[in-house]
Amino acid sequence: MTQLTLALAKGRTAKDSIKLLEEANIHFPDFHEKSRKLVFYSDDQKVKMIYVKAVDVTTYVEQGAADIGIVGRDNILEAEADIYELLDLKFGICRFVIASLKDIPLTKGSSIKVASKYTNVAKKYFARKGIHAEVIKLNGSVELAPIIDLSDCILDIVETGSTIRENGLTILDEVESISTRLVVNKASFATKTDEIQYFINELKAVLE
Ligand code: PRP
Repeated sequence: MTQLTLALAKGRTAKDSIKLLEEANIHFPDFHEKSRKLVFYSDDQKVKMIYVKAVDVTTYVEQGAADIGIVGRDNILEAEADIYELLDLKFGICRFVIASLKDIPLTKGSSIKVASKYTNVAKKYFARKGIHAEVIKLNGSVELAPIIDLSDCILDIVETGSTIRENGLTILDEVESISTRLVVNKASFATKTDEIQYFINELKAVLE
């Protein structure tokens, strides 16, 4: 039996990821969200799950330490990893937006200071718009940046909209839609095709 290693993102989408796997009959009897364990095995031993930070999932998959991964498209776009993105899992739905305290015109040729956890995504967005952007990397609480004059605006994810609202920010532009995706290591897809295809089909059957 060929075992698949799955890198599963901790955090806001973990519960939905586990729920989808359960519905696809992939059960991890030892798993609970508060556990400090990092490796879990499915009851049939077909899947070894490593439970890792969302930002690291694409690294494990690109390096071949995991064959497959479940992670948000926000992290996939930021990582720019050389991996396959094969399935939209249709949860963890949110969007990348540009937000600010005031209505700043996003005009070609202008300059702007932007704070973000997603600096690659931000650089690409402003380059596309022809705007000179100074991008400041933050690791969280990004909405604070315009409030304390660290930046003119932010690029961040919005899910319910409460963080933006409660901090008095408004959305200037929508950048991209985000949801959780299944990603696959390129070499694994060639060497473990049947196992990966079976795994994808099981998830697809639940999603359909
Ligand atoms: C994310 C994101 C926003 C917030 C959006 O942060 O960076 O701050 O969630 O969600 P909402 O639209 O439902 O309010 P996260 O909760 O991951 O924490 P962080 O600020 O520490 O990154």
